Amino acid sequence: MNIKEIAEGIRYVGVNDRVTEKFEGMWPLPYGVSYNSYLVEGSEKTALMDTVEIEGVNRYLDEVTAALQGRALDYLVIHHMEPDHSGSIPEVLKRWPGIKVVCSRQAADMVKGFYHVEDADMFIIVNDGDSIDLGGKTLQFVMTPMVHWPETMMTLVPELKLLFSGDAFGCFGALNGAIIDADMDTSRYIGEMYRYYSNIVGKYGKFVQKALGKLEGVALDYICSTHGPVWHERIGDVTAIYDKLSRYGSEPGAVIVYGSMYGNTAAVAEEIARGLADAGVRNIIVHNASVSPMSLMISDAFRHKCLIVGSATYSMTLFPPVAAFIEAMKVREIKDKVFAGFGGYTWAPNAVKGAMEKFCAETGIEMQEFVMMKQSIDSSVRTQAFELGKKLASIEGVK
Ligand code: FEO
Repeated sequence: MNIKEIAEGIRYVGVNDRVTEKFEGMWPLPYGVSYNSYLVEGSEKTALMDTVEIEGVNRYLDEVTAALQGRALDYLVIHHMEPDHSGSIPEVLKRWPGIKVVCSRQAADMVKGFYHVEDADMFIIVNDGDSIDLGGKTLQFVMTPMVHWPETMMTLVPELKLLFSGDAFGCFGALNGAIIDADMDTSRYIGEMYRYYSNIVGKYGKFVQKALGKLEGVALDYICSTHGPVWHERIGDVTAIYDKLSRYGSEPGAVIVYGSMYGNTAAVAEEIARGLADAGVRNIIVHNASVSPMSLMISDAFRHKCLIVGSATYSMTLFPPVAAFIEAMKVREIKDKVFAGFGGYTWAPNAVKGAMEKFCAETGIEMQEFVMMKQSIDSSVRTQAFELGKKLASIEGVK
């Protein structure tokens, strides 16, 4: 079997991107990213599932043309309109004039808006449960709004128990030769899935839950996402990860995020970490918000049960890198954390504590404790910080 053939009549035609340094202009791509697209061949008709980011368009058109082996291309199915997948739509329309574009009503509006395509006859607007017969293969459409934009949908091919899932179950990381999980070591992709979910989709947990609900009871042999490996052997693992993260469920462990100008607030973070370790927490991650990528801090905070945030006082509020992290948590509607705060001040004792209390009030997260330090760490603060670590370790789910 050709390495690009996922199942009979399903061929991978996506491209790798090892040039872009930051996805969406924000999120680091140390291992690159893949923009996945697939060709589905029925006995009567053919369909292309999504396109790729515009920088890869020349390679992409070559891939699709080769995969078609002289056949006509009848349909372009759009699951998601973010330009990492829709960027090559105009070139596909030029290369295969007469192709029908199959998508949700909102996606059709976005095609017009992003790419100024005015031909209304070209669209086939589909709704939940609609299907198209390609001859021996049926495309069955499942509307999954807000995974990750409002126009998003998935397509099931029941004959093959195969799902085109859009961004869902996707991860960062270019594909290094193999396409299907069974043909590679997936450990790095699983780590990148936590980062991808929390960074990109994290805000939309309840919509991911709705989508998972629609798929409940559907037997699947293949999940073909728009990023990362095709899932075949690890379908149970990746659906469990998406289910857990979209419920804001977490794993044991503690994440400390702090901002410090001269090392005093950092010293409190170290003591809390020692208290956690002394009490038996084995997965402790300490991030200096001035240095650690936001992407990793968000991912680690999503993944682990306990979150502790500390900040020096700056302009009568949070230190800006910590404020940015707090805002990122708030935007993603983070919940169900064992949470504590700590802060340093010189003359404004309530600035940081007040900001943390506001965060808790807005997110509904309970603050277990706040350790306050005036100017520099002393034996009393050191003890409070160490004891805070031990106390948090004793709470269910942290250790
Ligand atoms: Fe991979 Fe939301 O685009």
